[in-house]
Amino acid sequence: MGKKVVVTGVPGVGKTTVINGAMERLAAEGVEYTAVNFGTFMFEVAKKENLAADRDEMRKLEKDVQKRLQQAAASGIAAMSGGDANVIIDTHSSVKTPAGGFLAGGLPEWVLRELMPDIVVLVETDPDQILMRRLGDASRTRDMEGHRAIAEHQEFNRAVSAAYAMYTGCTIKIVRNENFLLEQGIDDLVSVLR
Ligand code: AP5
Repeated sequence: MGKKVVVTGVPGVGKTTVINGAMERLAAEGVEYTAVNFGTFMFEVAKKENLAADRDEMRKLEKDVQKRLQQAAASGIAAMSGGDANVIIDTHSSVKTPAGGFLAGGLPEWVLRELMPDIVVLVETDPDQILMRRLGDASRTRDMEGHRAIAEHQEFNRAVSAAYAMYTGCTIKIVRNENFLLEQGIDDLVSVLR
């Protein structure tokens, strides 16, 4: 069986940047991974149903609508993740809803059981660095919140990941993606993917 690795982190922490760096490095060593972005799967359905004009609008949708989109994405991902391929799933442990509450279980329990990930990776860094990255990313409509709220979200994600480990027996790896130390974050991710 291939390795199944779930990579999570709050918006703008740099999940996609670290994943791309790690995949490039592993490809040079002859280790192939397919990266699947959960948000892209959700957005395809949201766009078709005229629910959201861009991926950042999905967080503003009613909780029940988000749950339905999650289910659609999860079915698609579960269907393509069986077998021998090594797969990275780029997603969220929890999403902050418009009312401020956390929507936990970014990966529904039935999907976790089907995927049975080997590892859940939490990409983290200092909240003020995340705030600056969100402010500097003109390509997206990022949530603006203070460093305390970002810290709280990172803490909540650790709790959700612990629940994933209880369900599946996967290990949890924390990868720090610090300013000026991207290569170190990539090294860290490569070490668990190899
Ligand atoms: P998605 O697109 O995955 O949302 P996201 O978390 O905002 O992810 P991004 O790819 O935009 O950010 P990132 O953390 O990967 O950072 P990046 O590498 O771009 O999903 C879209 C939406 O789908 C979500 O908002 C949610 O609504 C929904 N969704 C997804 N999964 C879900 C689930 N399971 N359940 C429910 N809803 C779900 O980097 C950000 C910036 O930082 C860049 O400018 C980059 O250059 C910079 N940067 C990165 N690393 C460094 C570094 N070391 N030093 C300095 N700058 C850095």
